[in-house]
Amino acid sequence: MPYVIKPETIDVIFETARIEEVVGDFINLKRRGVNMLGLCPFHNEKTPSFTVSPAKGIYKCFGCGKGGNSVNFIMEHEHFTYPEALRYLANKYSIEIEEEKPSAEQQEAMDEKESLFNLTAFAQKHFEETLHNTEEGKAVGLSYFKERDFTTETIKKFGLGYSLNAWDDFTSKALKHGYKKELLEKSSLVRTKDHQTYDAFRNRVTFPIHNLSGRVLGFGARILTQDKKKPKYINTAESDIYHKSKVLYGLFFAKSAIVREDNCYLTEGYTDVISLHQAGIENVIASSGTSLTVDQIKLIRRYTQNITLLFDGDAAGIKAAFRGIDMILEEGMNVRIVLFPEGEDPDSYARNYRPAEVKEFVEQHAADFISFKTNLLLQETQNDPIKKAALIKEIATSISQVPEPIARSLYVQKSSDLLQIEEKLLLAEINKQRRARAKGKGGDPGPQEEAEWISAPPETDTPQTPAGSNIEARERELIRILLTYYKRELLFVEEDENGKAYEVSWPVVDYLLEDFKDDDITMENPVHRIILEEMARAIESKTPLSEQHFFHHPDPQVSKLCIDLLSSPYVLSDKWEEKHGIFVKLEDNDLQKLVLEVLYAYKLEKVKKIIDVLEEKIKTPGEETDIIQVMTEIRSQKSTRERLAGALSRIVLQ
Ligand code: UTP
Ligand code: MN
Repeated sequence: MPYVIKPETIDVIFETARIEEVVGDFINLKRRGVNMLGLCPFHNEKTPSFTVSPAKGIYKCFGCGKGGNSVNFIMEHEHFTYPEALRYLANKYSIEIEEEKPSAEQQEAMDEKESLFNLTAFAQKHFEETLHNTEEGKAVGLSYFKERDFTTETIKKFGLGYSLNAWDDFTSKALKHGYKKELLEKSSLVRTKDHQTYDAFRNRVTFPIHNLSGRVLGFGARILTQDKKKPKYINTAESDIYHKSKVLYGLFFAKSAIVREDNCYLTEGYTDVISLHQAGIENVIASSGTSLTVDQIKLIRRYTQNITLLFDGDAAGIKAAFRGIDMILEEGMNVRIVLFPEGEDPDSYARNYRPAEVKEFVEQHAADFISFKTNLLLQETQNDPIKKAALIKEIATSISQVPEPIARSLYVQKSSDLLQIEEKLLLAEINKQRRARAKGKGGDPGPQEEAEWISAPPETDTPQTPAGSNIEARERELIRILLTYYKRELLFVEEDENGKAYEVSWPVVDYLLEDFKDDDITMENPVHRIILEEMARAIESKTPLSEQHFFHHPDPQVSKLCIDLLSSPYVLSDKWEEKHGIFVKLEDNDLQKLVLEVLYAYKLEKVKKIIDVLEEKIKTPGEETDIIQVMTEIRSQKSTRERLAGALSRIVLQ
C-alpha cells in the first residue's frame, strides 16, 4: 500500500495555495470589488458568473452552482483525485511533501477507488514486465509490436504489455501480492466462473488507458490471431474508476500538443493514436471501445475548440464521421474531416509514408464539414435534382446543429456558394429542422436561443434543492441551518412543577444535537455525519467552530458541501458583514419556526421510511419474521407519524 501525505503537509498546502492564484492559472480573472470574476470553466457561459473570494479562499459559480476551495478546484478542473490535487498544489508552491505509513484505520478508509487505481497500476507493470522479460512475451507480444513497426521507445512510452497464454498468471500473482479477490473481480481484470477465478486477458497484447494525470484506468487487450469467434479487443468493463464514455485514449500524452496546435485529431483506435505519435503528430486521441460521446467532446473542449476527424474512407468510417460531425457542431465546436484512401487508416498510412508526408496529407485533406459532405454526396448526385435536394437537406441538418447564430449564417453563406442555391432556401430548411427538433424536445428554438444570451440570474440565497432522497434533502437543510446559525439562541417556554411558565434558551446547535441524541437519529449521508460529529466534538471540548474550519476541511467532500451551503451571493459580496447581517435577518425573524419546521419534516420522512421498511417485511416475511411484533411496531411508528404531522402543521400554520 502506498504512503499517505502527512496531515501537517496538507495543512501547509491549504495555507499556502491562494485560491486566486490556483484558479488564475486556468481562468482569466478580473477584480470586482473584494472578489474576482471570470468565465466559469464548468459550464458554457457568455457573461462571467464565476466568483473567487480571496478573503475566504473559495470559489463559487452563480451560474451552475459549483463551488469549493483550491483543492476542490484542482480536483474538479483537472479530474484529479484528492491526493493528486494535493501533489499538484505542493508542486506549484514547491512545498515538500512528507509522507507516512497509513494507519490501520486509514488503510481501511482508503477508498475503493484508490485501491482500484493501485491494482490497475500493478496490472500495468505486470503486463509490461511480461512483454519485455518473459520468453513468451518477447516471442509473441514484442515481435507483434515490432511487426507493426512500433519502436521500443513507443512501446515504453505507451506502457504496452502482454498477457501470457495461461489461465491465471495475473490472478495468482495479484492474490499473492495481497489484493483481495473481490477487488480483482471489481477491476474486471479477473473473472469468476463456477467459483474458479481466471485472467480476463489471455494471449493478448495490452494497451493501458490513462486518465488526464497519467494514471492507468483500464486496458484494451488485442488478440493476436485471426479468430473470428473471439472479439478482437477486450476492454476493461465499467468500474468505479473507468467510465469509457468519459475517457479518451491518448489524451494524457496529447493534451499539451492539442493546446499548442489548437487542434485535436480524433481517430478510431489505439493503434492509430500510437502510429501517428510515432510519426510526430502528437495531438491525437481515440474514443476507444465506444463511438464518440458528448462527454468526450466536452473533454476535448477544455483544450481546444477544433476537432479534426481522421477516419477510414470505408462506409463505416463515413457513417461514423457523419455522426461525429453533428455531435461536435451541436457542442458549438469546429469540425474538420480527413478521410483516408480506401483500405488505409491513420495507422497504416503512418507506416506506409514518411512522417512529413503524413502531416502533409492530413493538412491538405482536412475539409470543413460542408465541403466534406458536399464533395462526398455531389459525386453521387451529379445532376439529379432529387438527389441534390436530399444533399441540401443533409447539409442543413448539420448546420441546424450549430448553436451560435453567427456561425450558422457563415456556414449558410459557404454552402449556398458550394451548392449553388439561394441562401434563403437553405435557411428555410435549417429553420424548419430546428423547429422540428425543438418541438421534439418540448420547446421553441427562437426564444430559447435569446434566453441564452442573457446570463442566468444569480441564485438567491434559498438553498438549492439537492439531488437524492427527500430525507437527504432535509438533512442537508438541517446541516445548512446548523452551519449558518449554530450560535443563535432559540427560546422555549416551559412549565415548572407548579404550572408556572418560564423561558429557556438553547443555542441552535445544542438544541438540534440534543434532539438527535434523544431520538437516536443518525444522518443517512456520510458527509452530513462527519459534519455533525465534528460539531458535537467541538461543543463537548468547548472549542469554537468556524466557517474557515469547514471551508478548508481536509476532507474535500466536507469542504465542498459547506462551501455550497454557505456561499450565497450575499456572503461573497462586497460588504460581507453588513449584507450577511441583512440576509441573516430575513430568515432570522422566523429562525425558530424554520428550525422546527425543517426538523419535524425531517423526522417525518424518517418515520415514513421506517414504516415502509416494516410494511415490506409483512409483505415478504422471512422465516424469522415475527408478524405480530412487526405489526405492533408499525402501529407505534404510525402514531409517531401522526404526532409529527400534527406538530408540523401547527408550526407551519403559526
Ligand atoms: P479496429 O478494428 O480498426 O482496430 O477498431 P485497430 O485498433 O485499428 O486495430 P488493428 O489496426 O486491426 O490492430 C478500432 C477501435 O475500435 C475498438 C478499439 O478501440 C479499436 O482500437 N474495438 C474494435 C473494440 O473495442 N473491440 C473490437 O472488437 C474491435
Ligand atoms: Mn487499424
